[in-house]
Amino acid sequence: MGNPVIPTIRDIEGLRTQVRAWRSQGLRIGFVPTMGALHDGHITLVRTAKQRCDRVVVSIFVNPTQFGPNEDFDAYPRTEEADLEKLASAHADLAYLPTVAIMYPPGASTMVNVTGLTEGLCGAARPGHFQGVTTVVTKLLLQVLPDAAFFGEKDYQQLKTIARMARDLDIPTEIVGVPTVREADGLALSSRNVYLTPSQRQQALATPRTLNAVAARLADGSDAGPHLAWGQAELLRGGFDSVDYLELCDAEDLTPLAHIGGRPARLIVAARIGKTRLLDNIAVG
Ligand code: PAF
Repeated sequence: MGNPVIPTIRDIEGLRTQVRAWRSQGLRIGFVPTMGALHDGHITLVRTAKQRCDRVVVSIFVNPTQFGPNEDFDAYPRTEEADLEKLASAHADLAYLPTVAIMYPPGASTMVNVTGLTEGLCGAARPGHFQGVTTVVTKLLLQVLPDAAFFGEKDYQQLKTIARMARDLDIPTEIVGVPTVREADGLALSSRNVYLTPSQRQQALATPRTLNAVAARLADGSDAGPHLAWGQAELLRGGFDSVDYLELCDAEDLTPLAHIGGRPARLIVAARIGKTRLLDNIAVG
C-alpha cells in the first residue's frame, strides 16, 4: 500500500462544497488553522480535533498581514510537500491552501481588531500583529464554518484573543485551546525553532527552565516584581540577547498581576536569541 494522501483544495467554493456535503451527513467539522512548517505541536492539534470531530480541515496559509515590515515573512519556512504528508499520516481529512489573492483580493479593506487583550505582551512588541491574526482567522472561520477550531496554548495571547473575538462577533465555533507540546528537554515546539543553530537551541532551554524557576519563586504569593526581574536576568545569562517581556498575567484577561492570588494566572515570556523570537508560557497559581 502507498503512503496516505490528503485531498487539497485551494479555493473557497471547493472548500464550502466539501464542508456542506459533510454537514448534510450530520458530521461535526473540526478546523486547525496553521501557517505550515508543521511539527508535532500542530499534529497534536489535528489529533485532538480528530478525537472531538468527525472530519478535520487543516489550513496552511502564511498570512502576510500578521508580519511586521522587518519581520520574517519571506524567510518563514514553507514546506508544503512535507506538511501534506504529515497531515495525511495524522488522518486529517482535507488540506485548505488558499493563495494571498484569495484571502486578500484587490481592494480588500476590512480588518478585525480586538482591543485591550492585544495591547500588552506581544501586541506591544509587534504592532499590527494581532489585527492580522484576527482578520485572517475570522476569514478562515467564515470560509470553513467549523463546529470547533483548535489553537495551541503556546501562543497564549493569540488563543485568548481569538476566543474573545469569536465570542464578541457571535461566531458559532467553539475555540479549543490545546496544551503546549514540548521536546523531551522542555523546549516548546515552534516552527521558528528551525532558525536556531545547535548552540542557540541549547541556550533556548533557558525559557522553560526560567519559567519553572520563577513559578517556584512565586508560589508563596510574594511580590512578583523581583522574581520577574531575576527571571529576565536569568534569560540573558542563559544566552538570550534580549527579553521582550516576562510577565505574570491573569489567565483570562491577561492583565498584569502583582502576585499569585486566588485566580488562575499565567507566566508568559517572549525573548530573542539571534534573529529568532521565542515564546513560551506556563500556568501558575
Ligand atoms: O498560530 C498560527 O500559526 C497563526 O497565527 C494562525 C492562527 C494560523 C493565523 O495565521
